Amino acid sequence: MDWGLKNRLSQIIKPQDNRALMLAVDHGYFLGPTEKLENPKKVIAPLLKYCDSLMVTRGIQRTCVPATTNTPMVLRVSGGSSIIGEDLSQEEITVSIQDAIRLNASALAMSIFVGSKYEHQTIVNLGKLVSKAEKYGIPVLAVTAVGKELGKDARYLSLACRIAAEQGAHIVKTYYCENFEKVVQSCPVPIIVAGGKKIPERDALQLTYNSIKGGAVGVDMGRNIWQSEHPVEMIKAVRTIVHGNSTVDQAYAYYKKLVSEGPKNKPNQNKPNQNKPNQNKPNQNKPNTTKK
Ligand code: 5RP
Repeated sequence: MDWGLKNRLSQIIKPQDNRALMLAVDHGYFLGPTEKLENPKKVIAPLLKYCDSLMVTRGIQRTCVPATTNTPMVLRVSGGSSIIGEDLSQEEITVSIQDAIRLNASALAMSIFVGSKYEHQTIVNLGKLVSKAEKYGIPVLAVTAVGKELGKDARYLSLACRIAAEQGAHIVKTYYCENFEKVVQSCPVPIIVAGGKKIPERDALQLTYNSIKGGAVGVDMGRNIWQSEHPVEMIKAVRTIVHGNSTVDQAYAYYKKLVSEGPKNKPNQNKPNQNKPNQNKPNQNKPNTTKK
């Protein structure tokens, strides 16, 4: 593996503990203004320093992410369908490699829709994207899309993840499921778990914990962070599991402690200043809650 590729991968999956905490804010590429992500700039600002990388589209990166950030960008380069269109699986690569380089992408992300009408197109696109990206030392993260008509069990997800890896994806993002270990064992590249629909905070922490225990290197979480009433507190709690090996009880206690503390005890109104961490208070619960 070339130096550039290794270096970029190490920005996503931290070599200190081989773990990754990605914040996903790319939902608008087919959902438009998703609930609580209507104003991406305000959502991203207070969270950026707590994630290892940000999964984002080029439009949101250019308009809503400060170019001065040190946080690596995982650039979504696929799209072409919308939630009200005929078929969500009809995606193409929408961003050129040149533009991805201009945006200083640390990795490129695209979805494959195994078992859908357009599976051929999306799988071939993945192979082609890997070939292009490898020329420039840029890793590719393949997202195994799920949908009403697609499965979400270990059998389906193993198939989809393995196909992504066979096409050369360097990281695969998928969903947690029963017998998740099987999915991990049959996929030769690191797996990152998507958060999925908003669930209670403790359940999202359990999902994070189960994913890591099951062999994932981390999570790429969106809605369960920024749709929480307390996004900063939530990402910090998730971080204690991903990078601090907290148990679910420890992480949830930490979340509740942060929420109960002083002026931050405000619901999520997407107001960054209200959610700023209190730098003066020491972390009494877990180590490794700050970004490495
Ligand atoms: C959509 C995506 C999202 O980034 C992914 O679903 C993660 O976000 P969430 O945790 O909200 O599910 O890739 O295709």
